[in-house]
Amino acid sequence: MERIPVAGPWITQKEIDYVTDAVTNAWYGNANMYHSRFEQAFAAYVGRKYAVTLPSCTSGLHLALLSLGVGAGDEVIVPDITWIATSAPITYVGATPVFADIDAQSWCLSAESFAQSITPKTKAAIVVDLYGNMPDMDAILDIARQHGIAVIEDAAEAIGSEYKGKKAGSFGEVSTFSFHGSKTLTTGEGGMLVTDRDDIYQRCLFLRDHGRDPHGKMFWNSEVAYKYKMSSMQAALGLAQLERIDELCVALRRLPHRKRQIFSWYFEALDGFDGITLNHEAPWVKNTWMVTAILDEKLGVTKEDVIYRLKDKNIDARPFFYPLSLLPAYKKILPEPKVRNLVSLSLAPFGINLPSGLNLTQEQVEYVTISLKDSVAITQ
Ligand SMILES: Cc1ncc(COP(=O)(O)O)c(C=O)c1O
Repeated sequence: MERIPVAGPWITQKEIDYVTDAVTNAWYGNANMYHSRFEQAFAAYVGRKYAVTLPSCTSGLHLALLSLGVGAGDEVIVPDITWIATSAPITYVGATPVFADIDAQSWCLSAESFAQSITPKTKAAIVVDLYGNMPDMDAILDIARQHGIAVIEDAAEAIGSEYKGKKAGSFGEVSTFSFHGSKTLTTGEGGMLVTDRDDIYQRCLFLRDHGRDPHGKMFWNSEVAYKYKMSSMQAALGLAQLERIDELCVALRRLPHRKRQIFSWYFEALDGFDGITLNHEAPWVKNTWMVTAILDEKLGVTKEDVIYRLKDKNIDARPFFYPLSLLPAYKKILPEPKVRNLVSLSLAPFGINLPSGLNLTQEQVEYVTISLKDSVAITQ
């Protein structure tokens, strides 16, 4: 069996045609044609007023914090389990990350731990749609509202996911997406910031173009800012992918490769196997990204053991994120973590992301699940 990657895109002739058109025609007066089309279609898809194309989700989170006025002396609450890209921009703006625990089922920020982490210094929270799942948005937004805390939704991994019929990316003041090659919609590298607020939108346009008014005098910079832009070839690729988004996410019986179908193959193949828990999906949530398994501690294996064993069988898997509060990167601010995030600490050693690339076949999923069962030595 050929090596099975953990994630990867689904590119068709449509993407090739759009990128070819961009590289041929998106110059001079047409330089922004694909950016505008991609931004408008994207805002409409997630249900936001504005969308801004960016080079990454990380840059989007940086702009989100800046446009909300987060800076030195402020605290920003983030879930302990996420990629460091969620929290790194908090340091970029001179604020301090506060790591709250995750919920045992959704693996996203726990509303209870969020409430307990609030101090008079809390200015914002970055809520993550982890592995495509959705946190308890109603509770989190309610708590944030009561305390006057701005919510940023890190929807990097969640294009197409839904919470109570609303798309990921439509929660809080501002949301950000990643289009890295591992994501359901890719532009190779890239990102998008979306918001309904005019002030945030205008501030982001200004900050991502070296602090100059998009409609002002040329080369007239009124602040030192950033250069955060996407190329037109990436925007063309993103638009083509967005025009196929339902096909990428939703299970349509006649088309075999898509995220919901991949999830259902795994759930069927691992159904009833004691000791392996896959992503929980609340009835009001739709997840469209990464199949992830938590191995019961009683199996006596860690994520590293299993990843290593799967690698031997030509299968790529990834470790569940390590709690940010344990990373050497945060040793300076957390020499002795005051609060121990018990759910994060108990799940992190036993979680693995399973192959979820858009090119997966059912046969490959069967091979992965048989290999996984062998790797944890389950005999049922
Ligand atoms: C939860 C989360 N946030 C942010 C990012 C950053 O995205 P990017 O690599 O586009 O900056 C990622 C990327 O994988 C992510 O998984």
